[in-house]
Amino acid sequence: MLSIGVLVSGGGSNLQSLMDNIKDEHIEGKITVVISDRPGVYGIERAKGAGIPAFVFDRKAMGCQELNNKIMDVLKSYNVDLVVLAGYLSILSGEIIAAYKNAIINIHPSLIPSFCGPGYYGLKVHKSVIEYGARVSGCTVHFVDEGTDTGPIILQKAVEVMENDTPESLQKRILEFEHRLLPEAVRLICQGRVCVSGRKVNLIGDIPPTAPE
Ligand code: GRF
Repeated sequence: MLSIGVLVSGGGSNLQSLMDNIKDEHIEGKITVVISDRPGVYGIERAKGAGIPAFVFDRKAMGCQELNNKIMDVLKSYNVDLVVLAGYLSILSGEIIAAYKNAIINIHPSLIPSFCGPGYYGLKVHKSVIEYGARVSGCTVHFVDEGTDTGPIILQKAVEVMENDTPESLQKRILEFEHRLLPEAVRLICQGRVCVSGRKVNLIGDIPPTAPE
């Protein structure tokens, strides 16, 4: 069974979706540790409430290098196999990315390669989608490489943009799909059904590359 480490910076609703899917035995993996780069976030409370070891390393109180060193130490000490970025907003060091090649995944609230990259996080993503006039947005689970939102794509789900959408309403609707897409990606990885070949990800078996309805 894979040891999963989840990194959060906020409310942790995606962390919750993982915990729920593990509890319901949809995912054959275990969240062994949760780490936040900022104090006071609800994601940490969710972890503690579920009895999962939780660490807070305040990114404002330490440099980027120290933050990453501490994260690496915790990941190693909990023998983490798979790192899940669930709304984690700091930059991971090259050392962590190299140590966990094709073993770090991220959920992004747009259809990559649109509306992603530096500066595209939170409501800014959805505001940009609406301002651009895009008819479709969605969410993407991808492996993390040295770039920002540039790693190989595992799963995507398209979500329609409505005429009267606000950034908030679009964010809310997409988040519901994130809560299905991320657990599905983790489920497949835990089953050993996700293979990376260059930029392409091959899903082994008869798997639709979108979230279950
Ligand atoms: C999600 O929209 C996710 O796509 C993005 O950050 C948000 C985190 O939400 N990376 P939560 O903390 O999981 O509720």
